[in-house]
Amino acid sequence: MKILITGANGQLGRELQKQYAEKDVEIIPTDVKDLDITDVNEVNKFVKEHKPNVIINCAAHTQVDKCEEQLDLAYKINAVGPKNLASAAFSIGAEIVQVSTDYVFNGNGNTELTEFDTTDPQTVYGKTKLDGENFVKTLNPKYYIVRTAWLYGDGNNFVKTMIKLSENHNELKVVNDQIGTPTSTVDLASVIIKLIDEKNYGLFHCTCKGVCSWYDFAKEIFRLKNIDINVIPCTTEEFPRPAKRPKYSVLRNYMLEITTGDITKTWQESLKEYIENLDM
Ligand SMILES: NC(=O)c1ccc[n+]([C@@H]2O[C@H](COP(=O)([O-])OP(=O)(O)OC[C@H]3O[C@@H](n4cnc5c(N)ncnc54)[C@H](OP(=O)(O)O)[C@@H]3O)[C@@H](O)[C@H]2O)c1
Repeated sequence: MKILITGANGQLGRELQKQYAEKDVEIIPTDVKDLDITDVNEVNKFVKEHKPNVIINCAAHTQVDKCEEQLDLAYKINAVGPKNLASAAFSIGAEIVQVSTDYVFNGNGNTELTEFDTTDPQTVYGKTKLDGENFVKTLNPKYYIVRTAWLYGDGNNFVKTMIKLSENHNELKVVNDQIGTPTSTVDLASVIIKLIDEKNYGLFHCTCKGVCSWYDFAKEIFRLKNIDINVIPCTTEEFPRPAKRPKYSVLRNYMLEITTGDITKTWQESLKEYIENLDM
């Protein structure tokens, strides 16, 4: 099997390459300098030439606040890119994996959200990612759309930011009124590989298990790293950002639960493993 990974230098792209290295699969890792997913001609040419069986799209404009001001770029990377990849995949009978986000929901509720709940994005990032999902669904029936949240892995992320900040701060204020689920790229990549192996097409939520606030997440990071720092809970209003943040953004992996099983760990277990292997 031949698998094309786009955005391969990102957090998820790196983890997928690591996990696939132990399998009998040929990987074609690309990032924007090798294959710009926003360029329809480049994508069609590349896909026809390399003929992958599966395209896993890990490329995205993931800077939520910047998306608010970079509207065209956000639409190009998060919506047009997946469109180009889905239709190029369809033209050669290949499958497409599109990774999406909890930001497709409004985050105003107080219950877990399943794949059957209604989307209502509130930000440019969320809207463009939902348009990306819709293009993929429309253009290629052999799709896997996998929504995740609060992702960390090999790259810049909240865990590393907290650890770096602790090097020159005695106390840190962290938002305590946004609830979600920290998710390791290890769990997400394992689920994506399982979906492909089982040809379990469709829309899936994939986060680790359990819920917490950013404050709880920070506390657990410092506890596991044995860092002595005063963490002070604060409100979203104290940290105004260009893009609205969801208050309650908990995805339930319902489709995994009712199809072939949910292999994700609790967010605390995965965070512990991540921190044990973290080189910083
Ligand atoms: N990070 C999160 O907390 C989070 C939460 C929910 C969902 N997700 C979704 O999960 C997926 C993976 O996220 P991640 O954290 O692994 O992302 P990431 O680390 O930001 O990686 C994205 C990669 O895409 C590349 N890229 C950007 N524009 C491109 C283009 N036009 N063509 C090809 N590659 C391009 C980036 O390259 P440059 O760095 O050179 O721009 C980067 O290597 C994304 O779909 C994201 O929306 C992420």
